[in-house]
Amino acid sequence: DTPLLVDRFGRVAKDLRVSLTDRCNLRCTYCMPAEGLDWLQKDELLTDAELIRLMRIAVVDLGVTDIRFTGGEPLLRRGLEHVIAATAELEPRPRMSMTSNGIGLKRRAQSLKDAGLNRINVSLDTLDPDRFATLTRRDRITDVLDGLDAARAAGLEPVKVNSVLLRGMNEDEAVPLLRFCVENGYQLRFIEQMPLDPQHGWTRTNMVTAEEILTMLSAAYTLTPSETPRGGAPAERWLVDGGPATVGVIASVTRPFCAACDRTRLTSDGQIRNCLFSQTETDLRTLLRDGSPDEAIADAWRATMWAKAAGHGINDAGFHQPDRPMSAIGG
Ligand code: GTP
Ligand code: 5AD
Ligand code: SF4
Repeated sequence: DTPLLVDRFGRVAKDLRVSLTDRCNLRCTYCMPAEGLDWLQKDELLTDAELIRLMRIAVVDLGVTDIRFTGGEPLLRRGLEHVIAATAELEPRPRMSMTSNGIGLKRRAQSLKDAGLNRINVSLDTLDPDRFATLTRRDRITDVLDGLDAARAAGLEPVKVNSVLLRGMNEDEAVPLLRFCVENGYQLRFIEQMPLDPQHGWTRTNMVTAEEILTMLSAAYTLTPSETPRGGAPAERWLVDGGPATVGVIASVTRPFCAACDRTRLTSDGQIRNCLFSQTETDLRTLLRDGSPDEAIADAWRATMWAKAAGHGINDAGFHQPDRPMSAIGG
């Protein structure tokens, strides 16, 4: 038995993505229907104690060094600061980041920093208030912009901004979004849309590709490839007009980065996934609740990662989208 989370292809998972809730207070059209989804019930969710135990096993027994809190919207998890503070107590202390829609961040940024959160990524697809209201079905762009400001002020840096461009909606905003992020000191990344929506509405032709994005940006800026090693990071990065500002593109579909993947995922109901696109999950919640020892949980986690596929298969004939949507998996 090897102690680390390794797979048949020699990849080592050191980055744990933890979904803290499947709920969200926005309804981005490409992510959720207007009425929301069939949310998990309270007894299905891991308790704080269960979650902290799993993170301890991941960090102490399985060699995880980085933890990212996601959702749904992680700020909706009650006791989030407590979870972060408890995670900060682990030895060796993992680096902690969060991916959020920014709603409520204005009020929480400093307490998150104080609890031990290192940095944050905030989703923002448009700078236009009316478009924001249409795209997210909520009129809350000001909360997001204030949240970004507060995150930087609290030192949750680098503050990264995630943008998904949608054809016929906000694809004309590549340059304005980059200008906004450069001016405000945020690291922008554009994300190719992936087939992970519950409506199964993804089409290849509607996806704005990395190539298209780079063409649009190159009309306004000089982009030079960043020399900083990428490691397992999904984003390819470029210096903007010589730097220090950078822009990234997460080209999951047209330039898959699965060969360097260093991720393992835990859903809010205690299931391990070895990939965003895996068709199966491993139920650790049952092990937690039937009195299984840490060693049994660690073994189940290792076995799950060993079975990880080489890639997501989006570009293969016969590709099937996973049953759970992105918002329930945790991105
Ligand atoms: P950083 O460490 O800040 O670079 O984080 P990140 O980019 O990995 O995380 P974030 O949660 O901000 O995710 C940004 C986008 O990348 C989202 O659309 C994620 O779904 C996507 N993403 C994150 N991890 C993976 C992955 O392992 N595979 C794929 N295909 N996409 C991923
Ligand atoms: N494909 C790519 N990115 C997505 N996001 C949500 N759904 C998808 C999808 N189907 C983005 C959100 C957020 C980040 C965590 O993932 O916009 O920025
Ligand atoms: Fe919520 Fe993120 Fe989905 Fe938007 S993309 S509805 S913020 S989970």
